[in-house]
Amino acid sequence: MSVVQLAPHTGSRRDSRRPVAAEATATDLAVTGRLPAGLDGCFVRIGPNLMTGDRPGHVLVGDGMAFGVRLREGRALWYRNRWIRTDRTTRVLGELPLPGPRHGLSDNANANVIRHGGRTLALGEAGVLPIELDERLDSVARMDFDGTLPHGFSSHAEADPVTGELFAVAYYHELPYVEHLVLTPEGRVRRCERIEVSGPPLMHGLALTDRHSVLFDLPVTFNPALARAGSRFPYAWSPGRPARLGLLPRQGCAASVRWFDIDPCYVFHPVNAYEVGDRCVVDVVRYDRVFDRDRDAPGESPPTLWRWTLDLTRGTVAAEQLDDIPQEFPRIDDRRKTMPHRYAYTVAMQSGTGVLGGSALLRHDLVRRTVAVHDFGPYREAGEAVFVPRGPLSAEDDGWLLTYVHEARTGRSSLVVLDAGDFTGPPVAVVHLPVRAPGGLHANWITA
Ligand SMILES: [Fe+2]
Repeated sequence: MSVVQLAPHTGSRRDSRRPVAAEATATDLAVTGRLPAGLDGCFVRIGPNLMTGDRPGHVLVGDGMAFGVRLREGRALWYRNRWIRTDRTTRVLGELPLPGPRHGLSDNANANVIRHGGRTLALGEAGVLPIELDERLDSVARMDFDGTLPHGFSSHAEADPVTGELFAVAYYHELPYVEHLVLTPEGRVRRCERIEVSGPPLMHGLALTDRHSVLFDLPVTFNPALARAGSRFPYAWSPGRPARLGLLPRQGCAASVRWFDIDPCYVFHPVNAYEVGDRCVVDVVRYDRVFDRDRDAPGESPPTLWRWTLDLTRGTVAAEQLDDIPQEFPRIDDRRKTMPHRYAYTVAMQSGTGVLGGSALLRHDLVRRTVAVHDFGPYREAGEAVFVPRGPLSAEDDGWLLTYVHEARTGRSSLVVLDAGDFTGPPVAVVHLPVRAPGGLHANWITA
């Protein structure tokens, strides 16, 4: 349990969420400090960025925009922000619709951006198809993994760092099941298992061990009344609905899911999962409740760090709160996915502030059970931090953390690079962006 005290946050979440009105391109960006020469790639974050004239609504809804900085040989070559080309944004921008298949009511790939099978993909929630981006973050086409995807995809997928396979759970409100998808390293769906659920639930992601996919069947479900009322996010807390974790053997059929009942709660983001003997450890950011009274943001209970330990022999679950600081956007060294991890990085969310960022990053040492704080100071808000290892064989904490920081007072943004091994020390480099990048959702490092 943490006893860390965070400095009061100054500035409002409205500041960081205020959208930008235009796309921008800038080259040869100013840098304070020294960018590590080994960072060769693009740091990309995506998030809702409402087009002019729209009123702010649900924190997860809004036209997607990608914000990227290209780093190479110690220089920040460029900054670009680009709308994700949906049918709506192309219409507003006066462009032709993006080619490719269509699925479902929405095509708003605004939640995450990943690299898989040689393609950079913008991902969205609730049955949205991925939108492929080129190396300059321009939308290329809507895609369905060469026709192998049965319906929509997911905002989150877990890559096995050993096999290169990609695992995801897709849900869509018209289907009485969710689809567990296994993709080849080349990016084709080679297995789809239909798992019956009631609701259907908002299944934002999954966790992966070396033997199982961990499914989060939790009481936030599609709400027909909200849909009829025109909500762009018709999912709500479902009182009385059971909560359970499902262990699906990675190559198993739907009937082989083993369910473990847990107390009602919600999880957007697992940290990682792994198995030791007959125990399966699942670390997550957990909420007591979301989308019950507050339908526009997951703001009614603080997100905190929890560990579930599933006893596969006895069929029991032990729950432990690892840290009581409000926090979200958990990341680890992705090379540790499916196996025991020591370090986890999160964004500290002070109560009353945004759900897209916070004024500090936390570094958890889960072996020593300590937490360190990197506080960016008043008026500043950091988003999801991505760990980039120094090299392919470097240790779990030997590398850099990259995050965007928004400053409410000046309306400026920067890309901050921290040394993960000197987490509380000053940044090794700050890339000054020529325009502000508003608070967003998920970020990733796309290696060149
Ligand atoms: Fe997410």
